[in-house]
Amino acid sequence: MEEQYEYGMIGLGTMGRNLLYNMNENGFTVAGFDKDKKQVELLKKESEGKKIFATTGLDEFVRSLKSPRVIILLVPAGKIVDSVIDDLKPLLEKEDLIMDCGNSHFTDTNRRIEQLATSGLHFMGVGISGGEDGARYGPSIMPGGSKEVYARVRKMLEAISAKVNGEPCVSWLGPGSAGHYVKMVHNGIEYGIMQLIAETYQLLKDRCDMSNDELHTIFLKWNEGLLKSFLIEITADIFAQQDEITGNSLVDMILDSARQKGTGGWTSEDAMNLQVPLTLIDVAVSMRDLSALKEERTVAHQKLKGPEKNLVSGKTELTVMLEHALYFAMITAYAQGLSLLQSASKEYKYDLKLEKIAKLWRGGCIIRSSLLDDIRHAYSATPGLQNLMMDDQLSSKLMRAQGSIRNVIIKGVESGIAVPAFMAALSYYDGYRSAWLPANLLQAQRDNFGAHTYERIDQAGSFHTHWKQTEKQ
Ligand code: 6PG
Repeated sequence: MEEQYEYGMIGLGTMGRNLLYNMNENGFTVAGFDKDKKQVELLKKESEGKKIFATTGLDEFVRSLKSPRVIILLVPAGKIVDSVIDDLKPLLEKEDLIMDCGNSHFTDTNRRIEQLATSGLHFMGVGISGGEDGARYGPSIMPGGSKEVYARVRKMLEAISAKVNGEPCVSWLGPGSAGHYVKMVHNGIEYGIMQLIAETYQLLKDRCDMSNDELHTIFLKWNEGLLKSFLIEITADIFAQQDEITGNSLVDMILDSARQKGTGGWTSEDAMNLQVPLTLIDVAVSMRDLSALKEERTVAHQKLKGPEKNLVSGKTELTVMLEHALYFAMITAYAQGLSLLQSASKEYKYDLKLEKIAKLWRGGCIIRSSLLDDIRHAYSATPGLQNLMMDDQLSSKLMRAQGSIRNVIIKGVESGIAVPAFMAALSYYDGYRSAWLPANLLQAQRDNFGAHTYERIDQAGSFHTHWKQTEKQ
């Protein structure tokens, strides 16, 4: 096999195959490898007549690629990535590049970059968002790693990416694991917005007794206004889908217990490490965990009573409030994610440009929304903006929508419906705008029980008090 293909793809699952077809259609020659014969056969069958090569032989695959080679990995994150790299390494030559396009943890990406550099090999961590359709017709792409090496793949990535007003949804984000970090935070925001939509669904379904048809109509309408976004759009579609087995609405036949691969939790974990408040995303992860306790919840339902179920009279009024509450909360979801990116950028020396990130999230990815145009504008007007909520336009929008989110939370609380993501969004806003928080009391408590000292408002330094104990009666 002579060297003739420009790019190699390892992992011929749906994502890998779709990305490969996307590359091929954009005029790039691609060879695919998978250990699984079935996947290779499928690729061969689907790509008849096209210049696509597919094999189960790793040697043959590597030999089919032009030097210096560019090999894309689309395999499950974790140990599999390391084992593929171990198999590949002896077959590669200096200057060859491996691009990991899966959802790898950013610390793994840093380690892999260092390890491969000792053999003269390049490694890039590249976040790709958009699911199967995105991979096929244009994903949002978040590359990180060496800028010089990025120049080798730039044209190809720009060609296959989603476009918004002709602008490609890809740009080099920063060194090292910057790309995978940004993708992780993208997924954290994705968890936050999905949880908000889920709470909205429960309020409308349980509190207003709305049918799936009504929900379909509302989400369709919302997708033409303030909330225009991919997640609102697919939610509208979901309510219209019928189950082929029973003929019922499919959503009603799906178990209320959500799974997760972990990227949302990683986002919260790193925010905790960097001491960045990420309330909404934390809650979204916890609610998936709570949803998984299906058996416990079913038992608790018999014992722990809430308020009597009373349907709300003003369906239309609640629907209008929810649209504004969701809008408010979506702004805070982006604000939290982007503030984490700002801190991580300093801590990990990524030198991220938030405007660039907002720009490439506008198309192709799961969290794409019309709001991202405003967000992009906010960072282009003030590149060092400390928190998105402080942008002039967005702060006015938050202030205008706050009445709605407060009322929505009241409705949830009154009805015994858990609305923690809405609460987290509002509390973040209320906490952030508080010039005074009751943390003086926390300092006093720490000093009282542990002599941890406290700071004063009138003098610099650390102080400790011998706290008096109230005499016990
Ligand atoms: C994307 C998605 C994608 C994947 C999620 C699912 O951007 O295309 O985020 O990466 O669907 O990782 O994540 P969970 O399994 O954790 O929900």
